Amino acid sequence: MSKILFADLGVQPIPNKFLRADELSEPELFYPLRASFDTETKLVQLDFPLKREAIFDENYPYFSSQSSTFLKHAEMYAHEMIERFHPKNVLEIGSNDGYLLQYFKAAGVKALGVEPCRSVAEAAIAKGIETHIKFFGRPFGEHLGIDVDLMVANNVLAHVPDIDDFVNGFRYALAPEGVATFEFPHLQELIQGNQFDTIYHEHYSYLSMLAVNRLFLKHDLRVFDVDELPVHGGSLRVFACRKEAHWPMHQSVVDVIRHEMEAGLNRNEIYEEFNKQICATKRRLLDMLIDIKFRNKIIIGYGAPAKGNTLLNYCGIREDFLDFVVDTTPAKQGMYLPGSRLRVGEPHDLDYCRPDYVLILPWNFRDEIISKLDYIRGWGGRFIVPIPHVEVIS
Ligand code: TYD
Repeated sequence: MSKILFADLGVQPIPNKFLRADELSEPELFYPLRASFDTETKLVQLDFPLKREAIFDENYPYFSSQSSTFLKHAEMYAHEMIERFHPKNVLEIGSNDGYLLQYFKAAGVKALGVEPCRSVAEAAIAKGIETHIKFFGRPFGEHLGIDVDLMVANNVLAHVPDIDDFVNGFRYALAPEGVATFEFPHLQELIQGNQFDTIYHEHYSYLSMLAVNRLFLKHDLRVFDVDELPVHGGSLRVFACRKEAHWPMHQSVVDVIRHEMEAGLNRNEIYEEFNKQICATKRRLLDMLIDIKFRNKIIIGYGAPAKGNTLLNYCGIREDFLDFVVDTTPAKQGMYLPGSRLRVGEPHDLDYCRPDYVLILPWNFRDEIISKLDYIRGWGGRFIVPIPHVEVIS
């Protein structure tokens, strides 16, 4: 086994550990954030993974229902799956606040969630969605006691430290002809879209079809179809079943693998080059922000996503550049960003401070955000989008 350094983002705090005002006088833990490519398994993974309990705890503040784009995506998914597979029951791993299962339940499908973070799981339970507050893996799959027709793991495969144990659990819980779908950000998009800020301690693995195919076969599962999706900057939705199940293989699987090979994902060079691209983006963004601040302009950050914390902490952007950030999530408002310690306000704070520039941190929602904040143009406000290229939008 040999490893190639893919990204070195310095030392960083856990990205979703927002600080309360009374914690600002306390020290903060920083961990090395580095990812490498394994030439044998084809997985890109963190070099220094943290224990999952250190990250996904009772205060986890990510509520999926915050984004209308995301909710629409979930509703469409539920309808598509019901039409295609007619499941009698559905088990979602990482069911968050019930943003997805609510649509299955409304359609009369028995819905069960597994979610380790109490904060979001309780929101799902309050919506009447049966939820186990637990981590999923082989022990859970083995002892579940029901054959599941449809298993869903959206944005969770990349979030597990022991990816082998996790995938193995599906083998046990799936009905003989059951289907499991997995959504994860596509490594090809991460590389081609310069999305280095999506590397953080919550994401243990960065996945290509080349890697996922091998991984599933190792656990007697088989990928039979794949969709390419625009969410999270470009994701894959992989359909898998037991190796011996009857679902026919679709051409899409071959096509995605072929595109990955054309993009060079089966060769070492593309992984070796990525870190240089990251450094160049940092220099370009700082160059622009320094120029703006020398002109005495006001910059506010929009959104407090985890990826924003990677970007801000990697670039060393604090109150010296941004006065504060704003976010629609009530659990984040009034808190401070880990590392940079920027205050998180509410979107209407933009009205009184009338920023000259708004730095959009959740760039994956750039169009939704720019149209929502169109009114800042009224006072000459502009947007800065840092990824894939540092760009100003008037
Ligand atoms: P997301 O890209 O989902 O986060 P992550 O990097 O953590 O996976 O970004 C979601 C964050 O952006 C979340 O904190 C809510 C915030 N947000 C707004 O404040 N307003 C908006 O219009 C949108 C779309 C997101």
